[in-house]
Amino acid sequence: MTSSERKPALQIQNVTKTFGRKTAVDNVSFELYPGEVFGFLGPNGAGKTTIIKMIMGFFRPDEGTIIINGYNRKTHYEAAMSSIGGIVENPEMYNTLSARLNLKMYARLHKGVTPERINEVLELVGLSERADDPVKKYSLGMKQRIGLAQAMLHHPNVLILDEPTNGLDPAGIHQLRDILKKLAHEEGVAVMVSSHLLSEMQLMCDRIGIINHGKLLQICSIDDLMHRAQTSSAYRIKTSDPAKAKEILSEAYKNRISNVGSDTLDIEIDETQINECVRTLVSGGSDILGVQKIESSLEDVFLEITGGGIQIE
Ligand SMILES: Nc1ncnc2c1ncn2[C@@H]1O[C@H](COP(=O)(O)OP(=O)(O)OP(=O)(O)O)[C@@H](O)[C@H]1O
Ligand SMILES: [Mg+2]
Repeated sequence: MTSSERKPALQIQNVTKTFGRKTAVDNVSFELYPGEVFGFLGPNGAGKTTIIKMIMGFFRPDEGTIIINGYNRKTHYEAAMSSIGGIVENPEMYNTLSARLNLKMYARLHKGVTPERINEVLELVGLSERADDPVKKYSLGMKQRIGLAQAMLHHPNVLILDEPTNGLDPAGIHQLRDILKKLAHEEGVAVMVSSHLLSEMQLMCDRIGIINHGKLLQICSIDDLMHRAQTSSAYRIKTSDPAKAKEILSEAYKNRISNVGSDTLDIEIDETQINECVRTLVSGGSDILGVQKIESSLEDVFLEITGGGIQIE
């Protein structure tokens, strides 16, 4: 099924939020679908947390509409919020109590959360064995997993997590990634995570939305990004006289020549064109000392899309 055939679980329509004279979120629109992990990618101060706080009801947009499972948050608040779970800031917990008791207390906020459901979410986040230890003995990663368990208690079909991998070690990130993918791909939950790391989004998400200075610049699928990275190619040609080579190639490959160095130059062509390019060089009198394919990375494609304006790690 393509996303256009599915009903969105979350619709953000022309949402704007200003703080004083600062526009933190500027006319942002996007949709989140069941069964996907959607990444909200942007540098510090881009507006990620502000959007997430508006979705979670921490504050209202100045303009625009937020619809959750078909319910407008403004006019049908309870219905809209009944099936959404999330972590915005560090979840509040009683440190002297166990994870299980914390979840029990939290469950009072929702109707119909059974002890079985508490076991289920503990299992889901891999905390079953330590569930009866006091939270103060937990590592940061474990605390974050209780937060996720808490957010999942009432079976939400929309899960919103603000920078959920912050402070986790690589193993913890890996575990969280697996949990979120499983929730989305196997249980059909619509998952949205924010991050400032493209490498993290690449491994976790199906689609990403790139945000900067409050504006959503582009939404693209990770597959598309990867495909573009794999198919966009360039070659580095080694020759004793790159300036001469550039001159020979300039007519046919005008704007595609770059990085002219002391014994190399780069040319943006694909593999169907390399033969012809080398022939042109040789017949023009250039010597070819080597030809090497330059792979384009996901970062290169990302920088190309964003015009190089966003620094990523
Ligand atoms: N309560 C507030 N009052 C005033 N300005 C705010 C408030 N919350 C956020 N801002 C401003 O809004 C902009 C967006 O902030 P936001 O926290 O949404 O960014 P972010 O993308 O989550 O960044 P980070 O990666 O650092 O978490 C920033 O310029 C920030 O200073
Ligand atoms: Mg933030």
